[in-house]
Amino acid sequence: MTAGLDPTGGLRYHLRARRYRTTLWAPFARAVSRWLATWNPPERELLLVGPSGGYCLDLVWLSRFERVTVLEIDPLARWIFARRVKRAFEAAKLAPPSLAFDRRDHLSPRAGRFVIEPLRALLEEHTQSSVLFCNILGQLPLLGPDPPEQLPDPPPEGSYERWLAQLVEALEGHSWASFHDRLSGTIRPRAELSLDLSPWRSSEALVADLYAETTDETAVLEDHRTSALAPKVPRAQMLWQLDRGVFHLIEALSITRD
Ligand SMILES: C[S@@+](CC[C@H](N)C(=O)[O-])C[C@H]1O[C@@H](n2cnc3c(N)ncnc32)[C@H](O)[C@@H]1O
Repeated sequence: MTAGLDPTGGLRYHLRARRYRTTLWAPFARAVSRWLATWNPPERELLLVGPSGGYCLDLVWLSRFERVTVLEIDPLARWIFARRVKRAFEAAKLAPPSLAFDRRDHLSPRAGRFVIEPLRALLEEHTQSSVLFCNILGQLPLLGPDPPEQLPDPPPEGSYERWLAQLVEALEGHSWASFHDRLSGTIRPRAELSLDLSPWRSSEALVADLYAETTDETAVLEDHRTSALAPKVPRAQMLWQLDRGVFHLIEALSITRD
């Protein structure tokens, strides 16, 4: 995939970030920071997956790790991320963690199928690492084929839903956390979203509980297919207003290794 044309990020994303990082996106970045402060993995290493330029992360939070390996396929994002980390740590007068970039693509579908082996192999290279997925798990399905109307249960090998279940198995023994899209569209959730943990809800229940009915025929709400991720784990919720009139319901969950 060419990162510049990547539907999950690319140049357009950096331009948006430049425009909105300190305005429209600021409440979301604060919510991510408050949520991250509640996650205390014992590992001294972190695999940071898809952080882009780190626009929505409290970069100084990375000081708790000795070594951070960044998985980011966009070269411009890697350059911006490294520069922003340097500046954030200089401003905080702290020594940054050692930073390494892994440019390989461990996540994109291959021949239209999501396969867990590349990520599993990577985790075997980083047995002592915790893992943070940065708003990427709700974007990856955009890179694969559309799902059928009705997914069989259990979901078939190669489907994104099956991959999410395999991902949780592959992460066994690691502390890990993810914040990711559940739903997005032109409708703003009516209810206040809370960082207090709540149980998994189906997408239908989220729509019924959190969104007002609308008569606007142009309204759209997209399901990002992250429902299958660790349904037994309670989760926090946040609102990310990506752009004027574009609202993302973000869920965040974390697991701390024993
Ligand atoms: C929506 S952006 C993440 C936003 C980011 N967390 C922030 O704070 O602004 C998704 C990121 O995932 C990256 N990405 C997409 N596919 C990837 C892959 N297969 N491996 C690593 N990074 C990937 C994109 O380049 C993009 O920077």
